[in-house]
Amino acid sequence: MLDIQTTDAAIPATDPATIRREDYRPPDWFIPEIELDFQLGLERTVVRSKLDVRRSKSAKYDAPLILNGDDLLPVNVLVDGKKWNEWKLEEGNLTLPLTGAAHIVEIEVELDPSTNTQLMGLYGSNGMLCTQCEAEGFRRITFFADRPDVLSRYKVRMEGDKQAFPILLCNGDKVEEGEAEGGRHWAQWNDPWPKPSYLFALVAGDLVANSDSFTTRSGKEVELNIWVRDGDLPRTGHAMQALKDSMRWDEEVYGREYDLGLFNIVAVSDFNMGAMENKGLNVFNSRYILADPEVATDADFDGIEGVVAHEYFHNWSGNRVTCRDWFQLSLKEGFTVFRDQSFSADMSSAALKRIEDVRILRAAQFPEDAGPLAHPIRPESYQEISNFYTATVYNKGAEIIRMMHSMMGAENFRKGTDLYFDRHDGEAATCEDFVVSMEDGGGIDLTQFRVWYRTPGTPRVSAKLSHNPQTGTATLELKQSIAAGGAKPGPSEMVIPLRTALLNPETGEHDGEQLLILDKAEQSFTFEGQNDHPVLSINRGFSAPIILENSRTAEELAFLSSHDDDPFARFEAMQQLMTGYLTAQITGTPADRDIILQAIGAVLADENIDRAFLAEIILLPTEAFLGDQMVEVDPQAIHDAREKLRGKIGVQFERKFRRLYKQCVPGEFSLSAEARADRKLRNVTLGYIAASQVEDAAEIAYDQYCDANNMTAMQGALGVLSHLDAEERGHAFESFYTRFKDNALVLDKWFTMQAMSQRSDTIKRVDALSRHPDFTLANPNRVRALYGAFAGNQVRFHDPSGRGYAMIADMVIALDPQNPQTAARFIPQLGRWRRYERGRSELMRLALEKIAATSNLSKDVAEQVSKSLA
Ligand code: ARG
Ligand code: ZN
Repeated sequence: MLDIQTTDAAIPATDPATIRREDYRPPDWFIPEIELDFQLGLERTVVRSKLDVRRSKSAKYDAPLILNGDDLLPVNVLVDGKKWNEWKLEEGNLTLPLTGAAHIVEIEVELDPSTNTQLMGLYGSNGMLCTQCEAEGFRRITFFADRPDVLSRYKVRMEGDKQAFPILLCNGDKVEEGEAEGGRHWAQWNDPWPKPSYLFALVAGDLVANSDSFTTRSGKEVELNIWVRDGDLPRTGHAMQALKDSMRWDEEVYGREYDLGLFNIVAVSDFNMGAMENKGLNVFNSRYILADPEVATDADFDGIEGVVAHEYFHNWSGNRVTCRDWFQLSLKEGFTVFRDQSFSADMSSAALKRIEDVRILRAAQFPEDAGPLAHPIRPESYQEISNFYTATVYNKGAEIIRMMHSMMGAENFRKGTDLYFDRHDGEAATCEDFVVSMEDGGGIDLTQFRVWYRTPGTPRVSAKLSHNPQTGTATLELKQSIAAGGAKPGPSEMVIPLRTALLNPETGEHDGEQLLILDKAEQSFTFEGQNDHPVLSINRGFSAPIILENSRTAEELAFLSSHDDDPFARFEAMQQLMTGYLTAQITGTPADRDIILQAIGAVLADENIDRAFLAEIILLPTEAFLGDQMVEVDPQAIHDAREKLRGKIGVQFERKFRRLYKQCVPGEFSLSAEARADRKLRNVTLGYIAASQVEDAAEIAYDQYCDANNMTAMQGALGVLSHLDAEERGHAFESFYTRFKDNALVLDKWFTMQAMSQRSDTIKRVDALSRHPDFTLANPNRVRALYGAFAGNQVRFHDPSGRGYAMIADMVIALDPQNPQTAARFIPQLGRWRRYERGRSELMRLALEKIAATSNLSKDVAEQVSKSLA
């Protein structure tokens, strides 16, 4: 019965319904209690719901009850115990013209989870049943007021075949279970905490658990389970440790304790996103749970720690206090990303974590702000909310919270968040509620700071430092401007906190860092007691998410790259130095290369430098980042200039790199900071040794591959080999395939590394891989592994023939009918067409036009394409 067309799919691309923030109206009906009964089956699941509906005091006396539905037909509707036929189905939603103030509404629907390829609502994955409801998936399970400001207490009975589904999980606590006829069994789950429907979850399958427990600071014992398929149990230890660390950290840093006796996590292999914070039952993409040294890189281990923490932290920032409407998404996501970033920083190296956070922000969010899909962290309108789970809402949102933290200090920030949790516990709140709580609790005026919430675009700040030797004063002149979507920047008045220090030009010392608050279009700051012209260290720790228009000389940047005591600023100085040189090279302007070689020589000679930091600071800026600095992007020119510099660095320091490479020989595997630093530096030096085009590069890489006792080393070796023409390349990739073909997550890496190859035959190879028996459009991880990696491969995706663009467009057209959410994620890559040189620009636009001309596009893809072409 599920083959009725959804009305959503029928909306033409030219006329999508736009939802606006200013149109928010509180609900006419509340549903304080809901009972659900699931008769589970992979091909037929019957869902019976019983809703206790109450007309809001502010609603009109005759406002009908409208329950959202997507792809549903009511089999049976009862009102107050009697069969009721007055309902209407309009655009998928069920309208009931009820007249009283309170009713009991019962509805029965039938689902076929096996045909649910969107992975929203109830779907099958590897023989198990699971759900994804955020943002609007619950309406694909049953008719309901599927909006986050309707909070209900859930009682859920689930019943299914005992053999197919030995484990039955839902939110809250399991209160009863029993056997049923015909080899079936059932479980009754009650969740005492009222929640919006997007936090509902259910899992039924053949699973085993890594079980542990955690005692909260008030002495409550919490049972912890990580549920996986049988063979995966040995790979759950890292996630369990991360969970316990997160629970402790949230108590210590935010005073937040867990509020149920049970916390379940389930790993699922088919999942659109990273993970989901359903109350008491987090559902994860298996890539953010499963790890051991043989199959996971150090970056994978970090990803697991961060995502486990993120979802756990949502229990307070998201679940106990939820969002009033989806425009407030950053209320929970920006804040929770900030929380998980802070946690990860506390668990390992704060400096390296910050470099990584900024790298992600620049790779994913700055381009979004500069392109046709730019939006404020609190958007004003949307057509499909799934398109707004973006780096802007998440990562820029986190930067906005971080700025509040910097301006308030940790203690006052905590007073603000305490008040926020206190005031809004059990409520559906807004970003404005958060800001007001921070003001009231933390004693700060954020009136002007609020501009960040409504302004798209990345502010640009120019900083000019002048010095007067007569008076011993230095003057810093700051100017800010902003634009979104590639428009010409105009003056702005954002509140921009800039951690700043003036370094002595001889010693690099300074007498303390200051937090300058730039809140005017132009502003100057004076510093006394400066006998020599100091060197400016500004936006230390990346205290504000801005683009600094650099006025510092190459000499000053080189000086900072070896002297700045703020590790981020030191790293950043080197990046700016390299970026300045490379952008000059690309546009044919003369620039000094020796100073870069000297700066690299200096950090390589630094005896006290942290090895992991060394590995970061000698990396060149990415091709994508360099492109973002250009007025008109020519990916080939960028690639050539960057490779040339890489080769030069490789040749210049070959002996040093070989020595470091040998020194970093790994021993017994460990996740200690030292062992990780060695693995990282070893891979980076291997990259440079190969870049110098020495004859034995392939051999060294191949040996590393063969000797590796961990995935970080293996992937590092394969990454280098992937670009080479040597026969070792083929051998290594074959051996890797044979060894890991039965491990989906590792096989993803095999697809990815080939799609990232700089070789000129990469497009052909990706095309062939799309027909490989292990490739499928049905698994989002696999799609991202192949096509996501390829679309990020600047020089090959942007092949001047346009074949790369056509390949992505064809894939989007094929994937959209099955999984619109994942298909829509590929549009932004093409959407940047205006930034490229004419030939490529036109071909990118044509690829978008081809998608736009496809009939029955999903709302997801239609919105992204039409905005990209507008
Ligand atoms: N709330 C989840 C998280 O950030 C993301 C879920 C988004 N899912 C979606 N289908 N849009 O942890
Ligand atoms: Zn989240």
